[in-house]
Amino acid sequence: MSDRPRPAPAPGGRVRAFHRTPGRTYPVVVRAEGVYLWDAGGKRYLDGASGALVANIGHGRADVAEVAARQLRQVDFVHGSQFSSEPFERLAERLSAWVPSGAWRFFAVAGGSEATESAIKLVRQVHVERGEPQRHVILSRSTSYHGASLGALAASGMGARKTLYGPLLNEASFVKFPPPRRALPGPEDAAAVEAAILAVGPDRAAAVFLEPVIGAAAPALVPNPGYYEAVRAICDRHGVLLVFDEVMCGMGRVGRPFAFENWGAVPDAIIIGKGLAAGYAPLAGVLAGEHLVATIEQGSGSFVHGFTYAGHPGTAAVGLAVLDALESEGLVAASARLGERLLGAFCELAAATPEISEVRGVGSLLGLVLDDPEIGAPFARAGYAYAVGRVAMDLGLVVYPGTGAHDGARGDHLLVGPPFSMADAEADELVEKLGHALAMARGQMGAFQEG
Ligand SMILES: Cc1ncc(COP(=O)(O)O)c(C=O)c1O
Repeated sequence: MSDRPRPAPAPGGRVRAFHRTPGRTYPVVVRAEGVYLWDAGGKRYLDGASGALVANIGHGRADVAEVAARQLRQVDFVHGSQFSSEPFERLAERLSAWVPSGAWRFFAVAGGSEATESAIKLVRQVHVERGEPQRHVILSRSTSYHGASLGALAASGMGARKTLYGPLLNEASFVKFPPPRRALPGPEDAAAVEAAILAVGPDRAAAVFLEPVIGAAAPALVPNPGYYEAVRAICDRHGVLLVFDEVMCGMGRVGRPFAFENWGAVPDAIIIGKGLAAGYAPLAGVLAGEHLVATIEQGSGSFVHGFTYAGHPGTAAVGLAVLDALESEGLVAASARLGERLLGAFCELAAATPEISEVRGVGSLLGLVLDDPEIGAPFARAGYAYAVGRVAMDLGLVVYPGTGAHDGARGDHLLVGPPFSMADAEADELVEKLGHALAMARGQMGAFQEG
């Protein structure tokens, strides 16, 4: 190496925003209110997806913004290794009204992926402290999404989001089993979970991670009655922990506090995010059964894990304000009513739209499966849903397109999940715009299929 001094770099380089699709120009949103967004050009968008199933109480609420401002003026930040804060303690207690009976602990983080990582590390540490260090394998569905960070991605079963990172994902420790099949009764279907545990070796299996109602990976797929009860019994039989990922389907999205309440099974831990602070702050977390935390408390005494922004006072205060809105305005029941209206309307739309092969969902977490109408099966090449999503955006409607639900590679779908506060007339506008977008996209279907 030369010992000549290097010239100091000149300050003043150019930094631009790095977007997911760097070459694309994204509309810049300058105002958001209720179920609408406005871009800098004055174009209005109806938010049929709450962003990505996040903005559950609607956009632009001054009451929530004021709570955040007040909290940040009072205590902006404390680090979780040194202090707690009033909003974090109160948020944990307020969640008592949302969880099933029993004792729980709330570990707060800044996003769903961090929450999944936390749950993975929690179940691992609990097994080690229980004297079963060989238990480290996380089992999950071959159609699932648990987050974008490497552990959460390894736990996910969404081919398109994973392939590139394959060499970095420790797939030997993250084993997949098939998703529920709607043709099978729930208890019979759950046999796939037990088969996976037996294949891994029951003494090596740490936990089963499941989205009670599947979101991005298989749109709004609702397993049959008895499925989760059977999964719970299988986990108990083999000493395996059960974690429900309610990041998308929880916090009232399905018309109940949590989606798993549609069945009679209680998990060991629940992952929450998205609707918890409804887009007003980056807040997520793990609701861990007290029995898990007690193992650590009475064992090593310390959870070997943490993030800088965990338990941030400002995000916790926002979480409290969002719970206030959800509870005092009856928004969870509103989510159920809105979902029923939309489901009925989508079924009518499907009858007149040959490419919609299935409409499904619960509460206001709704999925439309799009197939090639010529063959009544998935398009040979996935991506048609994105074409529909783009046309919808042109028409001023936001939906959440996705691919790969059929076999990891093929399959097209749209997720729809507006803010629970959406009025009937706005729901009707959503259906009309979606019908229009599907009809316009149909005109381009031939070109899409030719690639
Ligand atoms: C079920 C589920 N889990 C985890 C995540 C990851 O959350 P985040 O994007 O906030 O990291 C998502 C995001 O879509 C999700 O749908």
